[in-house]
Amino acid sequence: MAKMVALIGFVVTLLSLQSNAELTKIQHLPKKEGNLAILVIGDFGRKGTYNQSEVATQMGVVGEKLNIDYVISTGDNFYEDGLTGVDDSAFYESFSDIYTADSIKTPWYLVLGNHDYRGDVLAQLNPVLREKDERFVCMRSFIVNSGMVDFFMVDTPPFQLDYWTHPGSSHYDWRNIASRETYISNLLQELDEALKKSTATWKLVVGHHTMRSVSDHGDTPELLQLLLPVLKANGVDAYINGHDHCLQHISSNDSKLHYITSGGGSKAWRNVFKKNEDTVRFFYDGQGFMSLEVSKTEAKFVFYDAFGNALYNWSTSKAADELRPSF
Ligand SMILES: [Fe+2]
Repeated sequence: MAKMVALIGFVVTLLSLQSNAELTKIQHLPKKEGNLAILVIGDFGRKGTYNQSEVATQMGVVGEKLNIDYVISTGDNFYEDGLTGVDDSAFYESFSDIYTADSIKTPWYLVLGNHDYRGDVLAQLNPVLREKDERFVCMRSFIVNSGMVDFFMVDTPPFQLDYWTHPGSSHYDWRNIASRETYISNLLQELDEALKKSTATWKLVVGHHTMRSVSDHGDTPELLQLLLPVLKANGVDAYINGHDHCLQHISSNDSKLHYITSGGGSKAWRNVFKKNEDTVRFFYDGQGFMSLEVSKTEAKFVFYDAFGNALYNWSTSKAADELRPSF
């Protein structure tokens, strides 16, 4: 009860705070006009171990087949504690030297996970990394516009309260986050404004932490309380995350929102299954990744395992009266 009161107080405080900034927007139009193809991977950087290299190989195969435009990372890019600095050899050992297939030598748009915040978080955000590998485009929160689809990349680690109050033996690098409350308030306001301005047919939000999950971490209450209302109020089609090391598809019972987890980039097999209030459509406890193909009228995603087998696919279409003009 005390926690609920604290959360309500926090929401009221958030609503009273103001932000004037805008999220950075990157435009990346598809090679094939009106047809975007990407891969989504999360929770991967382990110097090739725990089948990271096998998953990487299959990403190359599927990436070539689909002639993908880019890759999205749902975070936890480097285990266990992010990068130690811009010269950390893990950048090569867990990224550049692992994802070597030509088809995935495309931009990678990455958000940060909780493990990334346990290192030098500013290193991953430093554009100097692009001099080492030009693919690596990591920011806290930003937008990738691909015409008919907008990806809203959201920095979720600061939301989880116990990283601040009960970090245990972990150290979180909160530099440049003035206070949790102000940071989240500004971010939610910027996101809300950006979603309202978006003319894309498909609005997809990407963050590291789960909203709905049947696996180890389960739901993230702070995101359900603070971020989910913004997504539902703005007709977001899907929330895509990592954090739990699995592949899963859960659909909302009271909105059109879908929760999609792609966090199988390396270590997996937690052997946990928790019940969920929303509808669980698919769950795979092992390693893998997903592809996403989007046109003006249809969005389709496929989950693959570490051998490249397609485990599950799901598609949805927009009725003509739902289509928004896109630029
Ligand atoms: Fe995580």
